[in-house]
Amino acid sequence: MCKPFNVLLFVLFVGRCVCLIEDQAYWRQLGKEELSKALKKRKISNQAQNLILFVGDGMGLTTSTVARIYGKGESGRLAWETFDNLGVLKIYSANKLVPDSCSTATAMFTGIKANHKTAGVDSTVAVDDCAASRKKPAQVESFINWAQTAGKATGFVTTTRVTHATPSALYAHTPNRSWECEANIPQDAADCDDIAWQLVNNSPGRNIDVIMGGGRQCLQANVEGSPEDPVDTWSCYSKQQGRDLINDWKTDKEIRQSSYQVLQNNLDLQNMNESAEFTLGIFANGHLKLEHERDKGPEGMPSLADMTAAAIRLLSKKNPNGYVLMVEGGNIDQTHHRGHARKALDETVALSDAVDVALNMTDVTNTLIIVTSDHSHSMVFTGYPDRSQGVLGVSNSKMDNVPYTNLLYGTGGPNNYQFVVEENKVKRPDPTAENITDFEYSQQSVVLNDEVTHSGTDVLVYARGPMAHLFNSVHEQSYVAYAISYAMQIGIFEGLDPFDDEDSGSSHIYGMSLSFLIMLPFIGVFRVI
Ligand SMILES: *[C@@H]1O[C@H](CO)[C@@H](O)[C@H](O)[C@H]1NC(C)=O
Ligand SMILES: *[C@@H]1O[C@H](CO)[C@@H](O)[C@H](O)[C@H]1NC(C)=O
Ligand SMILES: *[C@@H]1O[C@H](CO)[C@@H](O)[C@H](O)[C@H]1NC(C)=O
Ligand SMILES: *[C@@H]1O[C@H](CO)[C@@H](O)[C@H](O)[C@H]1NC(C)=O
Repeated sequence: MCKPFNVLLFVLFVGRCVCLIEDQAYWRQLGKEELSKALKKRKISNQAQNLILFVGDGMGLTTSTVARIYGKGESGRLAWETFDNLGVLKIYSANKLVPDSCSTATAMFTGIKANHKTAGVDSTVAVDDCAASRKKPAQVESFINWAQTAGKATGFVTTTRVTHATPSALYAHTPNRSWECEANIPQDAADCDDIAWQLVNNSPGRNIDVIMGGGRQCLQANVEGSPEDPVDTWSCYSKQQGRDLINDWKTDKEIRQSSYQVLQNNLDLQNMNESAEFTLGIFANGHLKLEHERDKGPEGMPSLADMTAAAIRLLSKKNPNGYVLMVEGGNIDQTHHRGHARKALDETVALSDAVDVALNMTDVTNTLIIVTSDHSHSMVFTGYPDRSQGVLGVSNSKMDNVPYTNLLYGTGGPNNYQFVVEENKVKRPDPTAENITDFEYSQQSVVLNDEVTHSGTDVLVYARGPMAHLFNSVHEQSYVAYAISYAMQIGIFEGLDPFDDEDSGSSHIYGMSLSFLIMLPFIGVFRVI
């Protein structure tokens, strides 16, 4: 059984753990390696043919740090931590300091900041204002529109419903993110189309080449849940007699005489036809199962890495002009909301695996890979755990003499909030009475709420490939869309020559605004006259 290679690995591994002393020589060596990498860093200044944008939903810096330690050890790296270029994104939305996922997705995908709970519309649209959202000038286009106009293939994959907040901003215009199916649209907004309907019937949704995720319950009426594939009872559930948008999607492709495939489980995904022009993968009634609990067999649901690999294969085959692909690790946010820190860490590692797959399958000289997040979460990493303790342990409080977990939440649902009053004193239960390393454990929170709420701290954006160096500072979140536009020469910055050196590129933009400024007084004069 013991192949020579394995013995070598074993020796290396044991050697690392036992013999690797973090003495002065060790740190100097690491310093030298990092310095050498920094000095050798090269800019790739040609146009990006392909784009893969990874969004870790709710993956703030705390989540990323803790997931690194959890998954790779503190001296290891998640996939995006090998990238040469990074920046910081300011995530406030049009009306909130702590934003939600669809307003922030709108900023990243379209370049325009939107109001809380709205998607694909500008800030003239207040939440629930159907009439305002139907006005054409209020509707904003995403990089999916830009790429389709430029003749590129387009796709997205997510572990949430395909109609959920983040993906919806790619293709829908809605004043309320909850309107995922017809059942959630109120009477007075009957003129507004639900998000699922827009995906299948409108442009750019119906032209998207690859769509993968969950959300059958929003596409088809009265779907039945099962323990392996439950229905989300707290979100949109279609009940309209005869509604079958999966079938409508197929009919649309038939009318266009295009080949298509609908995939519903691991087996379908494995056997997919790489030459199909359109692919719709709907693997769950609600969100996809978490990585640690999913059935990996033929009937089960795929991992984010599986879907990412399949999407890249389909898109790169489809179109010589290149492609854009959005990949969302949506269950990082879902599990944080329930206060299950370990699940969120595990889903973050699953996102890292998906990024690894993409790094393997693409060419750094023509594919821009961006990894970022829409917003942070209120998880904190605190106490003074020893390095040998890992992230799921406890420290001892010197004040109430009750241990506390090193991961805690600011706000949380009933499972997180555990304070009790005893003898007129507020008491915090000892977390070690429960299994704190279990996936199901909910870390304690300070404030009782219906769930863990988001955090408004900045998120990082990591980039690799052509024009990755456009991310180098503290940016508005909306800047992501402009960087994509410029790097790929699609959408608003199409026509600026990316082969010019960067200075002339930016002076072109400044030039435009400068001439506008010069015109301003004259515009004023004309108005006075
Ligand atoms: C959005 O739509 C849902 C479903 O109809 C509704 O419950 C909610 O009140 C609406 N508005 C907001 C601000 O969420
Ligand atoms: C795959 O799809 C292409 C394009 O529609 C078709 O020509 C081919 O026959 C399909 N292959 C299989 C094995 O179904
Ligand atoms: C990437 O490719 C290398 C070399 O072919 C392989 O060993 C590794 O398993 C691949 N990783 C992923 C995540 O596909
Ligand atoms: C605690 O949870 C972990 C992870 O699920 C499990 O491996 C371990 O057996 C559990 N311990 C106890 C005492 O139940």
